[in-house]
Amino acid sequence: MNLANIPEKYRGHAAFSPVSFKNITLPGRIVRSATELFCADENGHVVQKEFSAYTELAKHPFGMIVSGHTCVSPEGRSNPGQNAVWDDIFIPDQSKIAGIVAGAGIKIILQIGHGGMKAEKSNGGRPVYTPDNMSVEQIRETVKAFADAAKRAQKCGFDGVQLHAAHMYLLSQFFYEQYNHRTDAYGGTGEKRFRIIRETAEAVKAACGDAFPVFIKINGDNNINNERYFADLCEAANICDAVGVEGMEISGYESQRAGTPEAPYFFETARNLMEHTGLPIMLVGGIRKRSEIDEILASGIKTVSFCRPVMQNYDFIERLFS
Ligand SMILES: Cc1cc2nc3c(=O)[nH]c(=O)nc-3n(C[C@H](O)[C@H](O)[C@H](O)COP(=O)(O)O)c2cc1C
Repeated sequence: MNLANIPEKYRGHAAFSPVSFKNITLPGRIVRSATELFCADENGHVVQKEFSAYTELAKHPFGMIVSGHTCVSPEGRSNPGQNAVWDDIFIPDQSKIAGIVAGAGIKIILQIGHGGMKAEKSNGGRPVYTPDNMSVEQIRETVKAFADAAKRAQKCGFDGVQLHAAHMYLLSQFFYEQYNHRTDAYGGTGEKRFRIIRETAEAVKAACGDAFPVFIKINGDNNINNERYFADLCEAANICDAVGVEGMEISGYESQRAGTPEAPYFFETARNLMEHTGLPIMLVGGIRKRSEIDEILASGIKTVSFCRPVMQNYDFIERLFS
């Protein structure tokens, strides 16, 4: 079932009710979080397996589907199976994904990213860019690559983009003080370590128009100095609000917490964050039960996202509610 033919008894449930952000209204509050299938061809083109996956996903009651992280420039390709959007040549592939999902009445968001230190596999075993080795010129080029990619997403029919600033990819690396040792305008204080992310959001808005939705996925914690990190995160959320970002999806340093029972790992952080910002907060990570969905949405968090359960069963959400 998708949102159009959801059984009467679930209509009106918060999970299947619309939710509005600055420039976009989602028809429901269940999100399929960004999920890469690692199956692009060697040039970064989407293959049939992935189109089929979106066709299946679009049959289910999501309010929004976020694509897998899609690379904005060749040197930032995080793995050899990652989809690309660094050239107009990729517009037909990405248009097809957008069309499949939009046709089902679900909002479709392209997640755009750069691997930074994690792009070594596509570059003969060594990353090209790290926060520490980039010149200001290279930072500006990378920001522009994100904006160009977002413009392509807009042309393809995506409803917005999500900047992948989580999971220790390039934007995330800049934000963590343990990966960013710069002493110029892009390093040092939390505000300066967030600067590349702010400039990227601003560049996307400048390229696509202020009304084009921009979401951000970011880690809510650090594996060291959590208190300091949280203060930086509050500041970052308020900066995002000021530059027109729609919402911030909270993930974490250990996005999947291997070896611990699945539970909404980052709920407490997300809830605390809401007390320090007016920016809409979204949550991902370990959410498995209907009671958890209810509690999270009742707390004021705007959406709940799912990755692994949906990979195992496309109808995971229906099963939870049946
Ligand atoms: C196979 C796989 C691919 C993923 N790809 C991405 C991705 O492209 N971008 C991203 O932000 N997170 C990615 N994630 C992380 C998920 O979006 C999510 O944050 C994480 O799995 C926790 O949610 P879950 O407990 O519902 O699985 C991926 C996770 C898995 C298991």
